[in-house]
Amino acid sequence: MPSNEPPQLQLELREGAEATPSDALEAVVFRPIHYLGSKLRLASAIADALDSADATRGTVLDLFAGSGTTALALAGHRRVIASDIQEYSRVICSALLASRSADSDIVSTFAARLQAGSPRLDALRQAVEPLVQFERDALHAAKHGETDAICLVLEHGSILAAERGVASGSSELQSRLKEVAKRMKLAGLAGSPLATTVRYFGGAYFSYAQAVELDCLAALAYEAMPSALTDVFTAALLSTASDTVNTVGKQFAQPIRPRNKQGVVKQHLLAKIDRDRHLDVRTKYMTWLQRYALHRTRGTGHVVARADYREALTQFAGQYSVVYADPPYTRDHYSRFYHVLETMARRDNPSIARSPGSSDDELSRGLYRDDRHQSPFCIRSQAPGAFRDLFRLASQTGAQMVVSYSPFQSGAHPRLMQIDALLSLARDFYKSVELESVDGVSHSKLNHSSLNFDMPPEAEVLIVCRLRR
Ligand SMILES: C[S@@+](CC[C@H](N)C(=O)[O-])C[C@H]1O[C@@H](n2cnc3c(N)ncnc32)[C@H](O)[C@@H]1O
Repeated sequence: MPSNEPPQLQLELREGAEATPSDALEAVVFRPIHYLGSKLRLASAIADALDSADATRGTVLDLFAGSGTTALALAGHRRVIASDIQEYSRVICSALLASRSADSDIVSTFAARLQAGSPRLDALRQAVEPLVQFERDALHAAKHGETDAICLVLEHGSILAAERGVASGSSELQSRLKEVAKRMKLAGLAGSPLATTVRYFGGAYFSYAQAVELDCLAALAYEAMPSALTDVFTAALLSTASDTVNTVGKQFAQPIRPRNKQGVVKQHLLAKIDRDRHLDVRTKYMTWLQRYALHRTRGTGHVVARADYREALTQFAGQYSVVYADPPYTRDHYSRFYHVLETMARRDNPSIARSPGSSDDELSRGLYRDDRHQSPFCIRSQAPGAFRDLFRLASQTGAQMVVSYSPFQSGAHPRLMQIDALLSLARDFYKSVELESVDGVSHSKLNHSSLNFDMPPEAEVLIVCRLRR
């Protein structure tokens, strides 16, 4: 499950300690978003495995960079090319890995822009005001035991549905939704990137007021000068959204269901709903921006890309000497947990998937993008071919490789590839294929029989592939 811990930044090395490679890896703990499946705690074992596969200390291609935390840790060790299929990942990796001059005061630059405001952003705030008021009253009423209105905001508060004329719910909320949809259309905001967060996710994942504020920050980030700063400003926005979102566990897979099937309000969630929806987006944003501004990347010349893994292996061929691969292993597509960040990063106008089985064109409760990435690693019939391509393409470029094999997590779906099948595929392309069991503290070599008999089912494994014995 995603961590509930607050994001942390620890830039200082332990006092008095002599810096070693693993200190360098541990020293930079920057968790930009609440993320499921980060390999950060294994970074030192991964760095050692990369060294044992490729003693040249050449560039590592991190093919499935996700939250970027592992790539960032490895950047203290070697040059990194960080790639992932998702735009939100590219934005975060870019903010984490790009070198910035220490003297550019990006915080006050942004604060000044925020202060200056803009008529277009004022128009957005005015358009959404009827819903902001409705929600403010609903939260107040919930404190006095009248919970119906706030439940309706979470269940039926989608502006997008109102725009499409398929909204349902209380007549007061409905008339406000219609009014806001009308005002947005008149102001030229329907379909505009200026209103992406509030149109898609206001009510369901964020309060309307928070969503509007996120849109205003996104607009300022997008218009940033010089444009090299856009990724830093947008990364701070994504970190803020991850901290602010009003869901159980700070994930984006589904909004809170405030009532059970019998329609009874889940009292234990009301305090959380109230607390999360009052989080101040601007304050959080400025704190995050400060963190990104203070962040200094180790090493130089890192590269970041948004690409399918096959494309990245080909596009950067000759520029890396070792590949680190941490693909998904279950049928849970990562894109389901991060679709809100993806849409906020892209600011496009995606169509939304329909609710499965609904006859009246109802939007899916999670408000997933129709084009949400479906990874071949998460589809049983495609996973073996996807892994075969991974080993084939990496070996063809002459690169050594380290693959993370993730443990079965309780509550998660089973792995689609068994370790034996994976090893057999690796051996089709690599002369030496070794296994290491890692637990974040120690790591040990495994032979094939100990893998079957001694390995605890939750053990993390690294597969170290070398082109020569
Ligand atoms: C296990 S996570 C990686 C976590 C990362 N190593 C970290 O420490 O934060 C898997 C990642 O693979 C990405 N992914 C899935 N299919 C992909 C594909 N075909 N090409 C590139 N990336 C893909 C997902 O977007 C997700 O970010």
